Amino acid sequence: MKKITKAVFPVAGLGTRFLPATKASPKEMLPVVDKPLIQYAVEEAIAAGITELIFITGRNKRSIEDHFDKAYELETELENKNKQKLLELVQGIIPPSVTCVYIRQTEALGLGHAVLCARPVVGDEAFAVILADDLIDGEPGAMEQMVRLYEESANSVLGVETVAPEETGSYGIVEVELGEDARQAVKSIVEKPRPEEAPSNLAVVGRYILTPRIFEKLVTTGAGAGGEIQLTDGIAALLKEETVLALPFTGVRYDCGSKLGYLKATVSYGLKHHEVGAEFETYLNKLGKI
Ligand code: UTP
Repeated sequence: MKKITKAVFPVAGLGTRFLPATKASPKEMLPVVDKPLIQYAVEEAIAAGITELIFITGRNKRSIEDHFDKAYELETELENKNKQKLLELVQGIIPPSVTCVYIRQTEALGLGHAVLCARPVVGDEAFAVILADDLIDGEPGAMEQMVRLYEESANSVLGVETVAPEETGSYGIVEVELGEDARQAVKSIVEKPRPEEAPSNLAVVGRYILTPRIFEKLVTTGAGAGGEIQLTDGIAALLKEETVLALPFTGVRYDCGSKLGYLKATVSYGLKHHEVGAEFETYLNKLGKI
């Protein structure tokens, strides 16, 4: 079985919940303390052994390409000023062994469509999908945990988390059955069900390992919830032919696509930041907030 070496980062969404911040720049470039969301996602992928990063971009996404590109002027400036530490920081964003590919999704037709855009580069092998707006603080990282399960099973794996029953309408929701080996096999999956219709409150959160057969399914998947081509509907079709596993990974997830989730992530990562954490804690204590 071939190892998972490719990860798809769909970054072509409109990010309407973060307007006006996302009017001219993508939500994946929003920083949590000092790193953009997309960099956390890329670091999680690299830690899981992934070496090819495939970004599905849309309009206003140039800054993502620039972020992972060489920055000649900045690097020369830092070198001239002898700012070695900052230079290393800027040069070390992507290790030399990792390559980046950018594919344009010309219209935001949905997450399923975005993943399908990666087909020519992914080819006939299993691959990861990471949504950068779900920031997951885990050790090992959520994707590394999922890659381990894929390597044991050769099945597609969905990263899942229990959400409050009233939140099912914001997620793809899965129904699972416990296999003999304690693995959770997905029985059904449905996009954004109302709480009274949800088969459970186990939500898929921004992390997937998918076998290449998903592409065949996505080709024939029509518009679903919200008029978009939904990855969830493609997975529902895949399920009929292959085992798909759900993995309740360990780690804390922040929904950085929502303002509240983003603020929680900022506080949490701020408190443990090596430079500002201690002072930030004193500040929050003074405010009586922790
Ligand atoms: P969201 O449902 O969060 O949509 O997409 P969005 O447009 O990014 O944000 P809001 O809801 O308007 O605020 C889930 C993921 O799928 C990607 C997004 O970039 C995000 O990572 N996506 C969505 C695409 O790449 N293309 C699409 O057509 C739709």
